[in-house]
Amino acid sequence: MTARTEQIGYGVIGVGIWGQIHIRTLLSDPKVRLVAVCDINETKAKEIADQYGIPKVFTSYEEMLKDPEVEAVSVATPDFAHGEPALAVVQSGRHLLVEKPMATTIEESLEIIKAAKESGTKLMVDLHNRWSPPFFNAHQSLKNGQLGDLRYVYFRLSDTMFVPLSYISWGEKSSALWFLGPHAIDTVRWLYNDEVKEVYAVKRKGTLTAKGVDTADFYALILQFENGGVANLEHSWILSPNTPSIFDLKCTLQASEGTVFIDTSHNRMIEKYTNQTGGNWDEIVYPDTTLDTYIHGCQRGFATESIHHFVDCIWNDKEPLVKGVDGLRATEVIVAAEKSTEINAPVKVIRHQV
Ligand SMILES: NC(=O)c1ccc[n+]([C@@H]2O[C@H](COP(=O)([O-])OP(=O)(O)OC[C@H]3O[C@@H](n4cnc5c(N)ncnc54)[C@H](O)[C@@H]3O)[C@@H](O)[C@H]2O)c1
Repeated sequence: MTARTEQIGYGVIGVGIWGQIHIRTLLSDPKVRLVAVCDINETKAKEIADQYGIPKVFTSYEEMLKDPEVEAVSVATPDFAHGEPALAVVQSGRHLLVEKPMATTIEESLEIIKAAKESGTKLMVDLHNRWSPPFFNAHQSLKNGQLGDLRYVYFRLSDTMFVPLSYISWGEKSSALWFLGPHAIDTVRWLYNDEVKEVYAVKRKGTLTAKGVDTADFYALILQFENGGVANLEHSWILSPNTPSIFDLKCTLQASEGTVFIDTSHNRMIEKYTNQTGGNWDEIVYPDTTLDTYIHGCQRGFATESIHHFVDCIWNDKEPLVKGVDGLRATEVIVAAEKSTEINAPVKVIRHQV
């Protein structure tokens, strides 16, 4: 197999907070020529294109997908708005990197996978925790037998209420489970190398609704895997904005021959106190330094690794490590979890053939 030599013409749909992480990552990838951005907010699209020197600006993804220079696309629209552009990208024969969740319905997820197969394009869901150094270490330790059999995982990935109230404008149209759950679900599936059989989930509402954003405050999930493994997931959107990090990630792996504790949010790699300290997003005490960080004019952090990996898969004609089916499996678990919250009983996860 010969790797291609011509840069990959790339477009980004949705140029908000996370779309710009894609943009900055792609700009630092020599295999990519970032040719186009698309956002329904024209002013923002133009501003971002100017800021980063991207030649073409679109306000409709349908129009962008007519451009022959665009060969690969990142979709970074809000959670509820992935399905349509993602499907259009693969139907048009472009390679697709879609933000998590892949789509918020099983039907859309299946359609995207089917269309990518039919057009022979690469499809990857940006579930980047597989590139997180501590999780990779834990995964390796399970793979090489050092930890023995994994029996139980506790996984908390929660945000301060700043996220649904201010960081995103569409909190009401998503939830802590859709926004955060795909990362945890994908990670535990990967660690167990197994599929979720059944889920029991509980949610509560009130705090965020009273503050004007009508979505659940938190979800607590118990996942049972086919081979007996158990995972306990916690996704909250009501942590106090005065906590020292915008998110809280804690994970414990209990295995037959060992235990692993992971804390990527409150690990005190850095503590920063200034006159502005106190709940403001820019002045958090434990700023993130590993997920996404900007160093010497380049986007860095493990969130960029998954994006570079996708590019590398196109360049070398390889299958991405995180495939469409992984996005589908996360969506199936979330759909079952939502059902469980409604009926207050465990729900079997229906896995679809792809
Ligand atoms: N991988 C991660 O850890 C991570 C972290 C944060 C956000 N995300 C994901 O990234 C996605 C975007 O989140 P964000 O925080 O950047 O949101 P955002 O609101 O900042 O940006 C979304 C952008 O999409 C645009 N948009 C909406 N519908 C569109 C359409 N049909 N066509 C073109 N543009 C459209 C909006 O105008 C907006 O500019 C979400 O799915 C979110 O879950 C992932």
